[in-house]
Amino acid sequence: MRNILIDCDPGHDDALAIIVALANKQKLNLLGVTTIGGNQTLAKVTKNAKNILSFLQADIPLAAGQSGPLVKPLKTAPEAHGDSGMDGPYFDGSDYPLSNMNGVDFLYKKMIESKENITLVALGPLTNLALLIKNHPEVKEKIECITLMGGGIDHGNQTALAEFNIYVDPEAAEIVFQSGLPIIMAGLDVTEKAEITVAEINSLQGKGKVSQLAYDLLSFYNKSGQQFGFINSPIHDLCAVAYLLEPDIFKGKLANIHVITDYSLARGLTYGDFRKIAAEPKNTLVLEEVDRQKFVELLIASLTYLDEKI
Ligand code: BDR
Ligand code: CA
Repeated sequence: MRNILIDCDPGHDDALAIIVALANKQKLNLLGVTTIGGNQTLAKVTKNAKNILSFLQADIPLAAGQSGPLVKPLKTAPEAHGDSGMDGPYFDGSDYPLSNMNGVDFLYKKMIESKENITLVALGPLTNLALLIKNHPEVKEKIECITLMGGGIDHGNQTALAEFNIYVDPEAAEIVFQSGLPIIMAGLDVTEKAEITVAEINSLQGKGKVSQLAYDLLSFYNKSGQQFGFINSPIHDLCAVAYLLEPDIFKGKLANIHVITDYSLARGLTYGDFRKIAAEPKNTLVLEEVDRQKFVELLIASLTYLDEKI
């Protein structure tokens, strides 16, 4: 059993990652969820997190973190996730409880209270995690590893070189990658291979409450993805959770990762030193391949399981 904390900006793919984590309680002990301004404003992504957790009848503490990056103003992604940050499904509105602690303090408290190590799962810009590590370096001892969705060695999506989560807060990302902690990087190199097809999305319709929610999320997300040239839908954030559940369906290589923070065309680029003898420790496993079929089977099995519970 692995203890995890999820930091996220829901976000269609964030929501699916939370759903799969909650469906696999025998392997993942979800201790809390924090939000970060990213896909939409902090208020909107926190509302989305409340809606998802409430829909799933979860009993997991939730705290709102930083509203924007360390240095630059926040850049959101309505073109991918809509005005709400999670357009598609309809929610009644939720009174799901929100902690009165700031997300970074909440993460810190969870870390020091825990007798066991904790894995941090980061699905948005890395601002909350960077502040946690910078302000409370002693918690590094308690961090088993960080699995994150972010970056791309080969290319970007926000710019030709930079992926969205890293581009939003490159300074924070550099702190996290250079923390020396073991990191599993699910960047675009692998997440764009972790696609669900239109036929697979359609197969979810009308199956059960949770499958229907996934269908509503993925139908919107698939349409918005078409403007970026996708026919199928890469479920980026789910890779960071799926790796913890089924590491053998992924392949990757170790590297040291720096993030370009210059105000140049390369801002937000994740730069990997993969050499045999790298200049600095190769603390990041950069995922490159995924068994797409098994990845989608994991999602569908998780949805089917929750359909029977909720
Ligand atoms: C990442 O950016 C966000 O839009 C998604 O939720 C994901 O975390 C993909 O680049
Ligand atoms: Ca996200």
